[in-house]
Amino acid sequence: MAVPVTPSKALTGPPVAYNSDLERLEIELLLEGIFRHYGFDFRSYAYASIRRRLWKRIEAEGLRTISELQARVLHDPEMMERLLLDLSVNVTAMFRDPGFYRAFRQIAIPLLRTWPFVRIWHAGCSTGEEVYSMAILLSEEGLYERSRLYATDINDVVLRQAKAGIFPLNRMQEYTENYIRAGGKQSFSEYYTAKYDGALFSPNLTRNVVFSQHNLVTDRSFSEFNVIFCRNVLIYFDRELQDRVHALFYESLSMFGVLALGSKETLRFSKYEPCYEKLHAREKMYRKVK
Ligand SMILES: C[S@@+](CC[C@H](N)C(=O)[O-])C[C@H]1O[C@@H](n2cnc3c(N)ncnc32)[C@H](O)[C@@H]1O
Repeated sequence: MAVPVTPSKALTGPPVAYNSDLERLEIELLLEGIFRHYGFDFRSYAYASIRRRLWKRIEAEGLRTISELQARVLHDPEMMERLLLDLSVNVTAMFRDPGFYRAFRQIAIPLLRTWPFVRIWHAGCSTGEEVYSMAILLSEEGLYERSRLYATDINDVVLRQAKAGIFPLNRMQEYTENYIRAGGKQSFSEYYTAKYDGALFSPNLTRNVVFSQHNLVTDRSFSEFNVIFCRNVLIYFDRELQDRVHALFYESLSMFGVLALGSKETLRFSKYEPCYEKLHAREKMYRKVK
């Protein structure tokens, strides 16, 4: 979608002349307002991406300026809920990047076997596909019974979907292919029952999962973990915020714990890079060593 610097003619009301300084000021004021009123802190998210998403919402609501959106958002919690879905990009998939899960099976699972109990944090888990994938993988490796998975996200709406465990039936073919490429050991269809246009996943998979709202920007650590997944979340943060979140992960990981990032994310350039060894460079899997 094109991002207007001057709002397009399709929008109602007189055109508003925008220059980039004014636009930045209005965006900063809006994000400050959202933070102070609702506690969601998007002030250090990557600017270009935030700007694109704000304009998408402005167009969808038939508004003309960022300030108009600000007024609406501050007075209408439902508008905030819609905007939150735009700002917190929830795209996900089961066994997303199958090569990553294959590497996790080969490299991380043998390490996990040496621990009596495994605590795993899925930070930014979205609608939960990543968590169900991990529960399946751990079950197949005989580790699920001694694992506890903490599935967190800033967005309560997606967490509720994650808890329900119903995923679109029309994605099952893609997920089955991912599962096989990830080294799956059974028939993927054993894990769900088809219901109308949804696939209901076995409640066994969430027996050891705790779902809870957690904001990586404003909330502290809540436990010590052996594994932290934070995949495809840091790409939306600016460099300084990425480093703050890396500090949170470093504090929350036990010694020799495993950190897994998304394919476009890295520990490079972070001041925590020397504290980790690479378990798999391409699949962005690291181990805390000091
Ligand atoms: C693109 S999804 C990634 C989902 C999954 N980890 C994956 O890789 O498929 C990014 C998720 O990060 C969440 N998120 C964004 N900002 C966050 C924050 N400050 N704290 C916690 N979660 C956040 C969003 O709500 C969204 O569900």
